[in-house]
Amino acid sequence: MHALDIIQEEHRNLWRIAITIDAVANELEAGQTVDEAFFTALFDYIREFMDGCHHAKEDGFLFPAMRERSPDAAAVIERLEAEHREGPQHLRALAGFLGQGNAALVGNAAFIEGLRGYASALKLHVRTEEKEIIAPARTVLLPEDWDRITAAFGDHTDPLFGDRARAEYRELYHRIVSLAPDSIGLGGRSAGGFQHLDAARTAPEPLLQVRGLTSSYGRIQALKGIDLDVYKGELVALVGANGAGKTTFLRTVSGIQPMSGGAIRFAGRDLARVRADRRVRAGICHSPEGRQVFGPLSIEDNLRLGAYLRPAGQVDEDLERVYAMFPVLQEKRLLPAGTLSGGQQQMLAISRALMGRPRLLLLDEPSMGLAPLLVEEVFNVIRTLKAQGITILLVEQNAFAALGIADRAYVLETGNIVLSGTGQEMISNEQVRAAYLGM
Ligand SMILES: Nc1ncnc2c1ncn2[C@@H]1O[C@H](COP(=O)(O)OP(=O)(O)OP(=O)(O)O)[C@@H](O)[C@H]1O
Ligand SMILES: [Mg+2]
Repeated sequence: MHALDIIQEEHRNLWRIAITIDAVANELEAGQTVDEAFFTALFDYIREFMDGCHHAKEDGFLFPAMRERSPDAAAVIERLEAEHREGPQHLRALAGFLGQGNAALVGNAAFIEGLRGYASALKLHVRTEEKEIIAPARTVLLPEDWDRITAAFGDHTDPLFGDRARAEYRELYHRIVSLAPDSIGLGGRSAGGFQHLDAARTAPEPLLQVRGLTSSYGRIQALKGIDLDVYKGELVALVGANGAGKTTFLRTVSGIQPMSGGAIRFAGRDLARVRADRRVRAGICHSPEGRQVFGPLSIEDNLRLGAYLRPAGQVDEDLERVYAMFPVLQEKRLLPAGTLSGGQQQMLAISRALMGRPRLLLLDEPSMGLAPLLVEEVFNVIRTLKAQGITILLVEQNAFAALGIADRAYVLETGNIVLSGTGQEMISNEQVRAAYLGM
């Protein structure tokens, strides 16, 4: 990879770290607890990689080349070098707040102010470097300069965002992914320019925002602190092996399964005390695992059940729409649902959820137990729903198919999110391929 790509990717990651630091400062200010271990990992990473490696290589290779080829840049370079020297001191000052337990950090004004100062200095630094150094470097540096710089930057790997990310940074990584999700991680990069930095800063609030969600069956904790976002219009896949907690997660979001800790926000509203039927009314519609259509009831009655909370006047209109999409359901509308094939029952289950006019559609393993051809058909349907602008959270054991159509995906392992990224990034990630795709 060319040094320009490496440096820009590292800048993007630094920017996301700054966003994450801001978000965490807000949490502390709001009285929420943030585990000290998060800061330890964060500071270790900045010290070890960003200061020790990224900045050191800019100082050692990029800046000298720029000084030589573009004397005008000297003043800016001096400033940036000074910031490289001062950064570690600020970091040490922040690290000085650690070691007295989580409680000492909550609402700690000096620490919060220190975090915010660090984040804004980091952003300013990255911005200046991009504008004043990287942009002109493209034209003034010679091929042999780039060869040296590329060799230097090419011989390290980022232990947090890189292909060989280390286990100790896992938590930090997931936190960053959930707080600063765009184009992050798993080696993927978004093409072109730096406009996305502004986009990331003004990113809209997610439609569904889950933080630290826990849920238990008696003494078995099935969800151990899930952070997950779904933005409006997105198709997000949640994949993972048998018993990982996928179903439990969806049931907790729709309110059928009680949560024991954490927070679920939907369209900006805290759902902690909102009953399941109210959540349906708010637009969270759930197509459950195993379809669960009412076999003896007619297909049309099954669909009407999905609309039980809707004003009667709208139901017929919605039925028409569903029938237009699935003509076979209209053909058989008066027959008992139990007479449908497995694939058709799955269409019915999805359609029933659609009758609630979802703002967020939760689909639990829609491909389960279906023949391969039908699996494909179900995924086509999901694609169509997405194209119609429905926001979808799709749970699947069939990871390959799910990742193929998802905008973003999360991997769940025994109650924890262990990986996330765009669908395509996940498919091309070696770890994911080995663990979940059997390839
Ligand atoms: N009703 C229940 N009572 C007790 N434990 C349960 C119950 N339902 C699920 N569990 C446990 O909770 C954990 C998560 O189960 P869950 O059904 O959410 O997983 P899943 O990812 O949906 O699995 P699958 O792929 O098999 O559908 C598992 O350890 C499971 O044994
Ligand atoms: Mg399940």
